This record gives sequence, structure tokens and C-alpha cells, in this order.
Amino acid sequence: MRFVPTGMGLVSVGVGNGEKEKVFLKALVRKNLAKTPASRKVSIHYYPIDINNEFVDIALEKVEDLPIEKKGIAGFIEDMATFKKSWHSPVLFCILGNTFCNYEPEFILKLVRENLEQGDLFLFDANLLPAEGSEAQSAREAILGTYTSRENALFNMYPLLQCGMNLEDFDFELLLINVNSRIGSVYRTRKSLHILKDTELTIGEKTIDFRKGDAIRMGFTYKYTCDQIMTFLGTCGFEVLKAFLSDDQENALILAKKRV
Ligand SMILES: C[S@@+](CC[C@H](N)C(=O)[O-])C[C@H]1O[C@@H](n2cnc3c(N)ncnc32)[C@H](O)[C@@H]1O
Repeated sequence: MRFVPTGMGLVSVGVGNGEKEKVFLKALVRKNLAKTPASRKVSIHYYPIDINNEFVDIALEKVEDLPIEKKGIAGFIEDMATFKKSWHSPVLFCILGNTFCNYEPEFILKLVRENLEQGDLFLFDANLLPAEGSEAQSAREAILGTYTSRENALFNMYPLLQCGMNLEDFDFELLLINVNSRIGSVYRTRKSLHILKDTELTIGEKTIDFRKGDAIRMGFTYKYTCDQIMTFLGTCGFEVLKAFLSDDQENALILAKKRV
């Protein structure tokens, strides 16, 4: 909180249940009250944003008791230019829960940069890969182990199972592949469902024909090293104010601002 000035609002996109934001807001309230102890109300505005309006409601409920102004927004981060009209700068703009890594890095950094004002801060976290070496190899194996677990496979297969597809008629595949980027080669997951048998699925009023051999490509997540994130921030016009690393170096929380 040392790095976040008093009087700053908090915007969080992809807020989920808002658990992390509650921790920040409590600390921000304490900091603001310490500065103006006579006032029992502090001027902090909180804007939880998510595509899922139920999450927005949960995030709002979570901070019901805090003396802050709140405005929830159901919306897509891609529409940031529209919903930023609802907030008052300066804001601490957060993307938490490794969500940053689920986007193309230059797309998300350009979007955030274009929509932040001078004085706003950008806070995001990322699950990291160690730099090359034997540790990197075992970290990649651990990631694959987690993502290819039966539990995760079933989680990803669930939508098709729910639509009536049989477990033996398709396969889940998760790869950690090397992709080229402006800053060199980076790791990214590649998630697919492979159809093993011709199947017709009815979803609402629509029917979809799957043919044996079809593949459904699903969302991905990047696995960066800490240096790669720093390089992306630099090339996309950000200045890093502080990078917090977890003790095991597996996660980073990064505070940055627009470079002028
Ligand atoms: C990985 S979860 C992170 C949730 C939370 N921030 C946390 O730290 O636990 C990603 C969240 O982003 C939301 N989301 C996904 N795509 C989005 C989009 N395009 N715009 C806004 N929110 C989105 C999801 O509904 C989900 O709540």
C-alpha cells in the first residue's frame, strides 16, 4: 500500500469473487483514515467488473461493510474504453488471478495503456516459469501434471458432457508449446478437445455436427518468466514501479504505470 496514494479508486476487471480486492480495500481504507483521522468516511471508489454479473454482485457483497463508494459493472475488458467513463481517475487498475496471462500480451497491454490516465496505476499478477535450466524443465512438467489431471480434464470436458456427448467419444489434450513473440520464444498452453466419433449435439434450438477428427481449440494461458513480463511491459510503454515475487518465485505481483 506504500505505493498507492490515498484518494485512489480501485477498478478490478475479471474481479471474480473479489476476495483479493477486499484485502486491498481494507488496507486502502486504513491508510486513508490514518491520513484524515477526524473523518469516519473515506473517499474511495470501488468498481468491480466481470462478464459474469453474479460475480459482480458477490464482489459487491463482500465489501458491504466497508465505508467506500461502490459501483459494479457487468462488462467485457475489451469494452474498457466504454466503461472507463463510469470511473473517476486516479485509479488502481487491477487484473488479478493470472487473468493477464490468458490474453495476447501486446493486445492486453495496449488496451490497458490506451485507457489509463496519467496518475493511474496498473496492478496484475502472473504465475511464472523459472528461467531456462533444470528448474524450468521440472516446472513445465509440474504445470503439465496439474493441467492434464483427470479433474482438470473433466472440468474442460464438462460442457460437451452436459450437452449429451459420451466420455469415450472425445479426448482432452493439453500441451505446453513454444510460440514466437516480439520478445522471442515464450511458452503457452494449447488446449483441445478431439472428437473421436461422429456425433450430433443439440444445444437449445441448434444442432451441431461433429465429425471424427474434428478438434475444438480452447482458451490458452501464457507461462512467462519474470524477465519476459518485464520486457513486454517495457516494449509496450509501461514503467515498473515494483515487482513482488512469492518466496518460491512462482508468482509475481507487478505494479506499473504508463511511461510518459
Ligand atoms: C481467472 S478468473 C480470476 C478471478 C479473480 N480475479 C481472482 O483473482 O480469483 C477470471 C475472471 O475473469 C472473468 N472474465 C473472463 N473473461 C472476461 C472478459 N473478457 N472481461 C471481463 N471479465 C472476464 C471471469 O468471469 C472470471 O471471473
